[in-house]
Amino acid sequence: MALTLEVLWRRGTEKLTRSKIIRPRLDAQVLLSAVTGLDRAQLMTYPEREATEQQVQQFRTFIQRRSDNEPIAYILNNKEFYRLDFFVDQRVLIPRPDTEMLVEQALGIIEQRIAVGETPLVADIGTGSGAIPIAIAVNEPRLPRIYACDVSPDALAVARINSERHNVADRVFLLNGNLVEPLPETVDILLANLPYVGTGEVGSMSRDVLAYEPHLALFSGPHGLDLLYQLCEDIQQSGTLKDRGVILLEIGYQQSELLTPMLKNLWPTATVSSQKDYAGWNRLIQVCL
Ligand SMILES: C[S@@+](CC[C@H](N)C(=O)[O-])C[C@H]1O[C@@H](n2cnc3c(N)ncnc32)[C@H](O)[C@@H]1O
Repeated sequence: MALTLEVLWRRGTEKLTRSKIIRPRLDAQVLLSAVTGLDRAQLMTYPEREATEQQVQQFRTFIQRRSDNEPIAYILNNKEFYRLDFFVDQRVLIPRPDTEMLVEQALGIIEQRIAVGETPLVADIGTGSGAIPIAIAVNEPRLPRIYACDVSPDALAVARINSERHNVADRVFLLNGNLVEPLPETVDILLANLPYVGTGEVGSMSRDVLAYEPHLALFSGPHGLDLLYQLCEDIQQSGTLKDRGVILLEIGYQQSELLTPMLKNLWPTATVSSQKDYAGWNRLIQVCL
Protein backbone atom coordinates (compact mmCIF):
# COMPACT_ATOMS: atom_id res chain seq x y z
CA MET A 1 0.00 0.00 0.00
CA ALA A 2 1.26 3.46 -0.92
CA LEU A 3 2.28 5.73 1.99
CA THR A 4 1.16 9.32 2.34
CA LEU A 5 3.50 12.21 3.14
CA GLU A 6 1.83 12.59 6.55
CA VAL A 7 2.52 8.96 7.48
CA LEU A 8 6.12 9.16 6.29
CA TRP A 9 6.74 12.38 8.25
CA ARG A 10 5.22 10.86 11.39
CA ARG A 11 7.15 7.60 11.12
CA GLY A 12 10.39 9.46 10.39
CA THR A 13 9.82 11.71 13.41
CA GLU A 14 9.13 8.68 15.62
CA LYS A 15 12.30 6.92 14.56
CA LEU A 16 14.44 10.02 15.10
CA THR A 17 12.80 10.55 18.51
CA ARG A 18 13.68 6.98 19.52
CA SER A 19 17.28 7.66 18.42
CA LYS A 20 17.35 10.79 20.63
CA ILE A 21 17.92 13.19 17.74
CA ILE A 22 17.39 16.71 19.12
CA ARG A 23 14.90 18.13 16.54
CA PRO A 24 13.21 14.99 15.24
CA ARG A 25 10.18 16.61 13.60
CA LEU A 26 12.15 19.34 11.87
CA ASP A 27 14.87 16.96 10.67
CA ALA A 28 12.28 14.50 9.32
CA GLN A 29 10.59 17.37 7.49
CA VAL A 30 13.86 18.62 5.95
CA LEU A 31 14.67 15.11 4.71
CA LEU A 32 11.13 14.55 3.38
CA SER A 33 11.30 17.91 1.59
CA ALA A 34 14.59 16.92 -0.02
CA VAL A 35 13.19 13.58 -1.17
CA THR A 36 9.91 14.95 -2.55
CA GLY A 37 11.02 18.40 -3.72
CA LEU A 38 8.15 19.93 -1.70
CA ASP A 39 8.70 22.70 0.83
CA ARG A 40 7.34 22.72 4.39
CA ALA A 41 4.16 24.61 3.45
CA GLN A 42 3.42 22.15 0.63
CA LEU A 43 3.99 19.15 2.90
CA MET A 44 1.46 20.59 5.33
CA THR A 45 -1.01 21.54 2.61
CA TYR A 46 -1.01 18.12 0.91
CA PRO A 47 -0.45 15.61 3.76
CA GLU A 48 -2.61 13.02 2.02
CA ARG A 49 -0.47 13.04 -1.14
CA GLU A 50 1.08 9.63 -1.81
CA ALA A 51 4.84 9.23 -2.08
CA THR A 52 6.33 7.11 -4.86
CA GLU A 53 8.06 3.85 -3.94
CA GLN A 54 11.42 5.41 -4.80
CA GLN A 55 10.74 8.39 -2.51
CA VAL A 56 9.75 6.05 0.33
CA GLN A 57 12.98 4.06 -0.04
CA GLN A 58 15.17 7.14 -0.16
CA PHE A 59 13.42 8.70 2.82
CA ARG A 60 13.95 5.52 4.85
CA THR A 61 17.65 5.52 3.97
CA PHE A 62 17.98 9.19 4.96
CA ILE A 63 16.13 8.66 8.25
CA GLN A 64 18.36 5.70 9.08
CA ARG A 65 21.48 7.79 8.42
CA ARG A 66 20.16 10.64 10.56
CA SER A 67 19.30 8.12 13.31
CA ASP A 68 22.97 7.17 13.24
CA ASN A 69 23.76 10.87 13.99
CA GLU A 70 24.99 11.73 10.52
CA PRO A 71 24.56 15.51 10.01
CA ILE A 72 21.85 16.53 7.54
CA ALA A 73 24.40 18.50 5.50
CA TYR A 74 26.35 15.30 4.75
CA ILE A 75 23.19 13.30 4.02
CA LEU A 76 22.04 15.92 1.49
CA ASN A 77 25.58 16.88 0.37
CA ASN A 78 24.62 20.51 0.81
CA LYS A 79 25.05 23.41 3.22
CA GLU A 80 23.99 27.00 2.69
CA PHE A 81 26.64 29.55 3.62
CA TYR A 82 26.46 33.27 2.93
CA ARG A 83 23.36 32.63 0.78
CA LEU A 84 25.25 30.17 -1.46
CA ASP A 85 24.82 26.40 -1.66
CA PHE A 86 28.02 24.45 -0.98
CA PHE A 87 28.66 20.78 -1.71
CA VAL A 88 29.88 19.08 1.47
CA ASP A 89 30.79 15.55 2.46
CA GLN A 90 32.90 13.97 5.18
CA ARG A 91 36.12 15.31 3.65
CA VAL A 92 35.32 18.82 4.94
CA LEU A 93 33.97 20.62 7.96
CA ILE A 94 30.38 21.78 7.47
CA PRO A 95 30.58 25.60 7.18
CA ARG A 96 29.02 27.26 10.23
CA PRO A 97 26.86 30.41 10.27
CA ASP A 98 29.35 31.93 12.77
CA THR A 99 31.95 32.09 10.00
CA GLU A 100 29.77 34.44 7.95
CA MET A 101 30.96 37.17 10.33
CA LEU A 102 34.51 36.69 9.03
CA VAL A 103 33.34 36.93 5.41
CA GLU A 104 31.33 40.07 6.21
CA GLN A 105 34.29 41.72 7.90
CA ALA A 106 36.69 40.75 5.08
CA LEU A 107 34.33 42.12 2.41
CA GLY A 108 34.17 45.43 4.30
CA ILE A 109 37.97 45.75 4.39
CA ILE A 110 38.28 44.75 0.73
CA GLU A 111 35.65 47.33 -0.22
CA GLN A 112 37.57 50.08 1.62
CA ARG A 113 40.81 49.14 -0.16
CA ILE A 114 39.16 49.04 -3.58
CA ALA A 115 37.53 52.43 -2.87
CA VAL A 116 41.00 54.01 -2.63
CA GLY A 117 42.19 52.40 -5.85
CA GLU A 118 43.90 49.30 -4.45
CA THR A 119 43.35 45.69 -5.48
CA PRO A 120 44.04 43.74 -2.28
CA LEU A 121 45.43 40.25 -2.50
CA VAL A 122 43.56 37.89 -0.16
CA ALA A 123 44.50 34.44 1.19
CA ASP A 124 42.38 32.01 3.21
CA ILE A 125 44.29 29.46 5.30
CA GLY A 126 42.49 26.19 6.15
CA THR A 127 39.92 26.64 3.44
CA GLY A 128 38.05 23.32 3.76
CA SER A 129 35.00 23.41 1.46
CA GLY A 130 36.19 26.78 0.14
CA ALA A 131 33.23 28.53 1.75
CA ILE A 132 35.17 31.66 2.77
CA PRO A 133 37.12 32.48 -0.43
CA ILE A 134 34.25 31.45 -2.70
CA ALA A 135 31.73 33.63 -0.83
CA ILE A 136 34.20 36.51 -1.11
CA ALA A 137 34.94 35.89 -4.80
CA VAL A 138 31.23 35.70 -5.66
CA ASN A 139 30.41 38.87 -3.71
CA GLU A 140 33.44 40.87 -4.82
CA PRO A 141 33.93 40.24 -8.55
CA ARG A 142 36.54 43.02 -8.70
CA LEU A 143 39.08 40.75 -6.98
CA PRO A 144 41.12 39.02 -9.70
CA ARG A 145 42.51 36.30 -7.43
CA ILE A 146 42.22 34.81 -3.96
CA TYR A 147 44.48 32.09 -2.58
CA ALA A 148 42.82 29.21 -0.71
CA CYS A 149 45.19 26.89 1.18
CA ASP A 150 44.62 23.62 3.00
CA VAL A 151 46.85 20.83 4.25
CA SER A 152 44.22 18.28 3.18
CA PRO A 153 44.12 17.36 -0.54
CA ASP A 154 40.72 15.78 0.11
CA ALA A 155 39.33 19.10 1.35
CA LEU A 156 40.76 20.88 -1.68
CA ALA A 157 38.97 18.42 -3.98
CA VAL A 158 35.68 19.55 -2.39
CA ALA A 159 36.71 23.21 -2.65
CA ARG A 160 37.30 22.60 -6.36
CA ILE A 161 33.75 21.27 -6.79
CA ASN A 162 32.43 24.42 -5.10
CA SER A 163 34.60 26.91 -6.97
CA GLU A 164 33.41 25.37 -10.25
CA ARG A 165 29.80 25.33 -9.07
CA HIS A 166 29.96 29.06 -8.36
CA ASN A 167 31.99 29.92 -11.48
CA VAL A 168 34.99 31.30 -9.60
CA ALA A 169 37.51 28.51 -10.30
CA ASP A 170 39.56 30.92 -12.43
CA ARG A 171 39.88 33.38 -9.50
CA VAL A 172 40.14 31.09 -6.44
CA PHE A 173 43.57 29.41 -6.50
CA LEU A 174 43.64 26.20 -4.46
CA LEU A 175 47.00 25.44 -2.85
CA ASN A 176 47.99 22.37 -0.85
CA GLY A 177 50.33 22.63 2.14
CA ASN A 178 50.93 23.58 5.74
CA LEU A 179 49.56 26.99 6.83
CA VAL A 180 51.15 29.83 4.77
CA GLU A 181 53.87 27.65 3.17
CA PRO A 182 52.11 27.20 -0.21
CA LEU A 183 51.56 30.96 -0.77
CA PRO A 184 53.57 32.05 -3.84
CA GLU A 185 53.62 35.77 -2.94
CA THR A 186 52.93 38.23 -0.13
CA VAL A 187 49.31 39.15 0.50
CA ASP A 188 47.35 42.12 1.90
CA ILE A 189 44.62 40.30 3.81
CA LEU A 190 45.03 36.94 5.46
CA LEU A 191 41.95 35.07 6.70
CA ALA A 192 41.79 31.86 8.68
CA ASN A 193 39.20 29.68 10.29
CA LEU A 194 41.63 27.01 11.42
CA PRO A 195 40.80 24.20 13.88
CA TYR A 196 40.50 25.69 17.39
CA VAL A 197 38.91 22.97 19.50
CA GLY A 198 41.03 21.61 22.33
CA THR A 199 41.52 17.85 22.57
CA GLY A 200 40.38 18.27 26.18
CA GLU A 201 36.92 19.33 24.97
CA VAL A 202 36.07 16.01 23.31
CA GLY A 203 33.75 15.04 26.17
CA SER A 204 31.46 18.04 25.59
CA MET A 205 31.10 17.64 21.81
CA SER A 206 28.00 16.36 20.04
CA ARG A 207 27.97 12.89 18.51
CA ASP A 208 27.18 14.35 15.08
CA VAL A 209 30.39 16.38 15.03
CA LEU A 210 32.71 13.87 16.66
CA ALA A 211 31.70 10.85 14.62
CA TYR A 212 31.42 12.50 11.20
CA GLU A 213 33.41 15.71 10.80
CA PRO A 214 37.15 15.41 9.98
CA HIS A 215 39.21 15.66 13.16
CA LEU A 216 41.92 17.43 11.14
CA ALA A 217 39.40 20.26 10.75
CA LEU A 218 38.46 20.39 14.44
CA PHE A 219 41.32 19.83 16.84
CA SER A 220 44.43 21.84 17.51
CA GLY A 221 46.33 20.71 20.57
CA PRO A 222 45.19 20.51 24.19
CA HIS A 223 43.67 24.01 24.34
CA GLY A 224 42.82 24.45 20.65
CA LEU A 225 45.45 27.14 20.17
CA ASP A 226 48.42 25.31 18.65
CA LEU A 227 47.64 26.04 14.99
CA LEU A 228 46.63 29.66 15.61
CA TYR A 229 49.89 30.29 17.49
CA GLN A 230 51.86 28.55 14.75
CA LEU A 231 50.10 30.45 11.99
CA CYS A 232 50.84 33.84 13.57
CA GLU A 233 54.49 32.98 14.19
CA ASP A 234 54.82 31.77 10.60
CA ILE A 235 53.23 34.95 9.22
CA GLN A 236 55.56 37.07 11.30
CA GLN A 237 58.71 35.14 10.43
CA SER A 238 57.97 34.55 6.75
CA GLY A 239 56.93 38.13 5.99
CA THR A 240 53.82 36.77 4.27
CA LEU A 241 51.89 39.99 4.87
CA LYS A 242 52.53 43.23 3.01
CA ASP A 243 52.81 46.58 4.81
CA ARG A 244 49.42 47.63 6.21
CA GLY A 245 48.40 43.99 6.01
CA VAL A 246 45.39 42.66 7.92
CA ILE A 247 44.86 39.30 9.62
CA LEU A 248 41.35 38.07 10.45
CA LEU A 249 41.03 34.96 12.59
CA GLU A 250 37.94 33.10 13.71
CA ILE A 251 38.53 31.91 17.27
CA GLY A 252 36.88 29.82 19.97
CA TYR A 253 34.69 31.32 22.71
CA GLN A 254 37.32 32.08 25.32
CA GLN A 255 40.47 32.35 23.25
CA SER A 256 40.77 36.11 22.67
CA GLU A 257 42.28 36.76 26.12
CA LEU A 258 45.00 34.21 25.37
CA LEU A 259 45.65 35.20 21.77
CA THR A 260 45.65 38.99 22.11
CA PRO A 261 48.83 39.25 24.25
CA MET A 262 50.64 36.86 21.90
CA LEU A 263 49.61 38.94 18.86
CA LYS A 264 50.70 42.19 20.54
CA ASN A 265 53.99 40.57 21.37
CA LEU A 266 54.54 39.50 17.74
CA TRP A 267 53.44 42.87 16.28
CA PRO A 268 53.96 45.54 18.99
CA THR A 269 52.81 48.43 16.76
CA ALA A 270 49.78 46.67 15.31
CA THR A 271 46.14 47.35 16.25
CA VAL A 272 44.56 44.21 17.66
CA SER A 273 40.78 44.15 18.11
CA SER A 274 38.09 41.52 18.65
CA GLN A 275 34.55 41.30 17.42
CA LYS A 276 31.68 39.71 19.33
CA ASP A 277 29.05 37.37 17.93
CA TYR A 278 25.32 37.80 18.64
CA ALA A 279 25.71 35.87 21.88
CA GLY A 280 28.35 38.34 23.11
CA TRP A 281 31.42 36.10 22.71
CA ASN A 282 34.60 37.38 21.05
CA ARG A 283 34.76 35.17 17.95
CA LEU A 284 36.89 37.20 15.56
CA ILE A 285 40.31 38.75 16.06
CA GLN A 286 41.59 41.39 13.69
CA VAL A 287 45.23 42.45 13.50
CA CYS A 288 46.06 45.55 11.43
CA LEU A 289 49.79 45.90 10.89
C1 LIG B 1 37.72 24.51 11.01
S1 LIG B 1 38.02 23.91 9.37
C2 LIG B 1 37.46 25.33 8.46
C3 LIG B 1 37.08 25.08 7.06
C4 LIG B 1 36.53 26.33 6.34
N1 LIG B 1 37.50 27.40 6.36
C5 LIG B 1 35.25 26.82 6.98
O1 LIG B 1 35.24 27.89 7.59
O2 LIG B 1 34.23 26.12 6.88
C6 LIG B 1 39.77 24.00 9.32
C7 LIG B 1 40.47 23.58 8.04
O3 LIG B 1 41.88 23.75 8.27
C8 LIG B 1 42.58 22.70 7.64
N2 LIG B 1 43.88 22.54 8.30
C9 LIG B 1 44.17 21.86 9.43
N3 LIG B 1 45.48 21.94 9.72
C10 LIG B 1 46.04 22.73 8.74
C11 LIG B 1 47.36 23.18 8.48
N4 LIG B 1 48.38 22.86 9.28
N5 LIG B 1 47.58 23.93 7.37
C12 LIG B 1 46.53 24.25 6.54
N6 LIG B 1 45.27 23.84 6.74
C13 LIG B 1 45.02 23.10 7.83
C14 LIG B 1 41.67 21.50 7.77
O4 LIG B 1 41.97 20.53 6.80
C15 LIG B 1 40.29 22.15 7.60
O5 LIG B 1 39.88 22.10 6.26
